[in-house]
Amino acid sequence: MPFVDYLRISLIDRCHYRCTYCVPADGVEPASPLPELLTHGELVTLVRDVFVPLGFRKFRLTGGEPLLRADTVDIVRSLAALPGVQDLALTTNGDRLAPLAEPLYQAGLRRLNISLDSLNPDTFQKITGRDRWQRVWNGILAAAAVGFAPLKLNVVVIPGINDQEVPALAALTLDRPWHVRFIEFMPIGNETLFGEKGWVDSATLRQQLQDQFGLEPATCQGNGPADVFRLRDAQGTVGFISQMSECFCDRCNRLRLSADGWLRPCLLNEVGQQNLKTWLRGGADPILLQATVAQLLQDKTNIHFKDRERGGDRYTRTMARIGG
Ligand code: GTP
Ligand code: 5AD
Ligand code: SF4
Repeated sequence: MPFVDYLRISLIDRCHYRCTYCVPADGVEPASPLPELLTHGELVTLVRDVFVPLGFRKFRLTGGEPLLRADTVDIVRSLAALPGVQDLALTTNGDRLAPLAEPLYQAGLRRLNISLDSLNPDTFQKITGRDRWQRVWNGILAAAAVGFAPLKLNVVVIPGINDQEVPALAALTLDRPWHVRFIEFMPIGNETLFGEKGWVDSATLRQQLQDQFGLEPATCQGNGPADVFRLRDAQGTVGFISQMSECFCDRCNRLRLSADGWLRPCLLNEVGQQNLKTWLRGGADPILLQATVAQLLQDKTNIHFKDRERGGDRYTRTMARIGG
C-alpha cells in the first residue's frame, strides 16, 4: 500500500440534490444536527496538529454538498494558509458555485471537481431530482473564468440513463482545458437502481472513445484513482474511475474524515474507525490523536471492493454521509 498522505474531509452530511445513484429508493438517512459537525476551529486543529505532522499533504473537502455550509470559504482560507497543506481541493454538485467561485479562489482554493452527469437539462433533472442544469453549468463557467485548474467534471455513468452521452461529455474537452471523468456506478446508496442498471465498464467506454476520437495516455494533476487519457488534439483530458471493473485498493492513499468527526479507513469499511471529535472535545493532546491516527493507518487494510461485491455485500450508506 502506498504512503497515505491524502485526507478527504466531509464538511457536512447534507445535500439538497437527490441523485438517483446516491439516494436510497426509500429516502435519505437524517443528517447530523449542526452542533455535531466538526467546527472550523476543530478542523484547523486536526489538519495542523494531527494530520500534517503525520505527513498528510493533500486535502479534499467533500460533503454531502460542502457549499451548503455557511463557513466553507473561511475554512478554505484557514486550511490553504497552513504550512504543509500542499494541495487543497473541493468536490461539489455545482449548485451554489456561481457566486462562490471567486471567493473560493480568493481564499486559496485552486482545484475543483464538479458533478455533471448530463448535458441535457431533462436528463439532469431525472438524475438529480432538481431542475438546475443551467445553474450548475453557470457554476462551471464561473469556475473556469476565475481560473480554477485543473477543473474536473465527474460523471457517474448509468446504463440506459446517461451512457449514450459519454461521447458528447468527452467532447467538452476538445476545445476546453477541462477534465471529464467517467465513474463506474457503485452499489452504494441506491442499491435498487444498481440492481436494475448495473454499471458500464470503463474499458467499453474507452474503446468507444478510441473508435470515435482516438485516445492517447495523458496525465492530469490529481490524487485519485482515475486513469487519464486525451482525445486526439484535445485541450483537456478524459479520466476513468473503475472501481467495479478493476480494484484500485492496492493504490489506496487516503483516509476519510466524516463531518461529525469519525476518521474511517476506507469508503466501504468502518472497522477501526475513530471518533476524533470526542477526543478533541474531551481535551485530548494532539500527540495522542496523532498516535490514534497512526494506529488506524497501521490497521488499514485493502478491502477489495470488487470481491466484496461478488460476495453479495451491499452498502446502503450514501456518499452524502461519507463524502465519496
Ligand atoms: P483528484 O485528486 O482530483 O484525482 O480527486 P478524486 O478523484 O480523488 O476526487 P473526487 O471527489 O472527484 O472522486 C471522484 C469519485 O471517485 C468519488 O466520488 C468516488 O465515486 C470515486 N472514488 C474516489 N476515491 C475512491 C476510493 O478510495 N474508493 C472508491 N471505491 N471510489 C473512490
Ligand atoms: N457510484 C459511484 N459514484 C457515486 N457517487 C455518489 N454515489 C455514487 C455511486 N453510487 C459520487 C459521484 C458524485 C460524488 C458526490 O459521489 O462522483 O459526483
Ligand atoms: Fe481505498 Fe477502500 Fe477505496 Fe479501496 S475501496 S481504494 S481501500 S477507500
